[in-house]
Amino acid sequence: MSFRLQPTPPARPNRCQLFGPGSNTKLFAKMAASAADVINLDLEDSVAPSDKDIARANVIEAINTVDWGTKTLSVRINSLDTPYWYRDVVDLLEQASERLDQIMIPKVGCAEDVYAVDALVTAIERAKGREKRVAFEVIIESAAGISHVEEIAAASPRLEAMSLGAADFAASMGMQTTGIGGTQENYYMLHEGQKHWSDPWHWAQAAIVAACRTHGILPVDGPFGDFSDDEGYIAQARRSATLGMVGKWAIHPKQIALANEVFTPSEQAVAEAREILAAMEEAKASGSGATVYKGRLVDIASIKQAEVIVAQAELIAGH
Ligand code: COA
Ligand code: MG
Repeated sequence: MSFRLQPTPPARPNRCQLFGPGSNTKLFAKMAASAADVINLDLEDSVAPSDKDIARANVIEAINTVDWGTKTLSVRINSLDTPYWYRDVVDLLEQASERLDQIMIPKVGCAEDVYAVDALVTAIERAKGREKRVAFEVIIESAAGISHVEEIAAASPRLEAMSLGAADFAASMGMQTTGIGGTQENYYMLHEGQKHWSDPWHWAQAAIVAACRTHGILPVDGPFGDFSDDEGYIAQARRSATLGMVGKWAIHPKQIALANEVFTPSEQAVAEAREILAAMEEAKASGSGATVYKGRLVDIASIKQAEVIVAQAELIAGH
């Protein structure tokens, strides 16, 4: 155990991040009225190259005029390998009001990608006298991104969240799939003639969670493309939640309730966590560091596990 305490991530709900193309203005009011904790207005891959300028203008107007309530409001800019990104940053920071909470940087491959955006954002914030510091979130969606995930997580004090982008990640890794997240038909073990599917996203998710937890950042699962498959979405989201992720993207409004359900600790889980805390209080009072709860060992580590669940529930309830 390091003597350094693990930093706590931002205390805000991030169960669902709802995306919508910046070119589709009729979605903005619907997004604002949704139950998503985070809104991501997109300038990147859901916007055709010919629409980049108009989408940027639409998004700035929407930030300044739509009532976004208490949602975290984020804009996904274009990646650093395009000619668009600097104009995204300059126009957003010069023209969008301080309602803009966050910029999402896609396809981050190294810490310097974040540093470059940070330098530009910092200069414009100073020049314009902006008072609220714009936060960053990044998408890990390439071989370079996952290889450098820890240095990326440490790249800027602005960084609040990190998502896994399954589609670009799969392409960059050369994975043989066109599916966006979820079970992959050919990723199975054979046992006595039976197929047992395992999870090809597992190691990347675990690497992201570890990097995020080390640096006090929220780890988030990205898109699930097949929005007609609710069961598949829920299964993917449950795996992510079990690994420590706090939320998942929605690329269609029907996915919002699914994410909110999975990433809100259930009443039963919260009740059990509170019982474990109470059992440990009793144990401590009688001078022991371990006790038995429902036939299983609970000890001082169990307090921390239970506190994760209670803290998450209280954060969501209090928001
Ligand atoms: N946010 C809010 N509302 C949305 C929405 C979104 N992202 N996507 C669709 N809706 C609305 C529709 O406008 C429609 O509303 P209505 O009932 O008032 O007419 C309703 O939800 C049902 O939509 P549906 O007809 O099923 O979908 P569609 O064919 O209009 O759109 C997509 C499907 C996938 C094109 C659209 O959902 C979308 O653009 N998603 C976001 C894509 C994106 O941002 N990708 C980048 C991140 S990977
Ligand atoms: Mg992508």
